[in-house]
Amino acid sequence: MESKKMFQDVLESRFSCRSFEPKKISLEELNYILEMSRLAPTAKNKQPQRIVVVENEGLLERLKEATPFTFDAKTVLVVSYDKDSCWIRKNDSKSYGEVDATIAITHILLAATSIDIGSVFVGVFDEQKVKDILDLPQNYGVVGIVPLGYPKEIKPHNTRLDLEELVIYK
Ligand SMILES: Cc1cc2nc3c(=O)[nH]c(=O)nc-3n(C[C@H](O)[C@H](O)[C@H](O)COP(=O)(O)O)c2cc1C
Repeated sequence: MESKKMFQDVLESRFSCRSFEPKKISLEELNYILEMSRLAPTAKNKQPQRIVVVENEGLLERLKEATPFTFDAKTVLVVSYDKDSCWIRKNDSKSYGEVDATIAITHILLAATSIDIGSVFVGVFDEQKVKDILDLPQNYGVVGIVPLGYPKEIKPHNTRLDLEELVIYK
């Protein structure tokens, strides 16, 4: 963790890492990533995100029953939100818990990249199985699983659409 990347470099070099060294990230690295996730903005500053750090070998093995995509990482974050703690928009009762948890995940991915830790946002999982395996309260919604580790290889991120296809000027 000697050097931290500059912002644009972080955004450009982040990629979905799907192959990790069979080693936990250091506690210093883990704590840095978690601290950076804590800085994420949340609706009405409700901070409903709840992050489970999974490093126990037995639980890592069991998580494979809930998702095919842990990529054998030795540190896996399960990012959820407390449905009773999030901001609900009054006019249409929309809950922003998933949005808040997703922003926290974005911070996690970028913070990890800034210290050369590989990461990937995994959305393919059986939510109830994840909750059962980790003994999460029923009022938690699981938004993403984030395997973390030292990348076996550095890859470029996927291609992106041109701005013309993404931005509409009115
Ligand atoms: C909401 C979300 C869900 C995703 N789910 C998975 C997944 O289940 N498995 C996986 O391997 N990658 C998953 N990804 C990673 C995407 O495939 C990846 O971000 C995308 O192809 C762009 O590649 P890049 O991250 O290397 O730029 C997910 C990404 C997002 C944002």
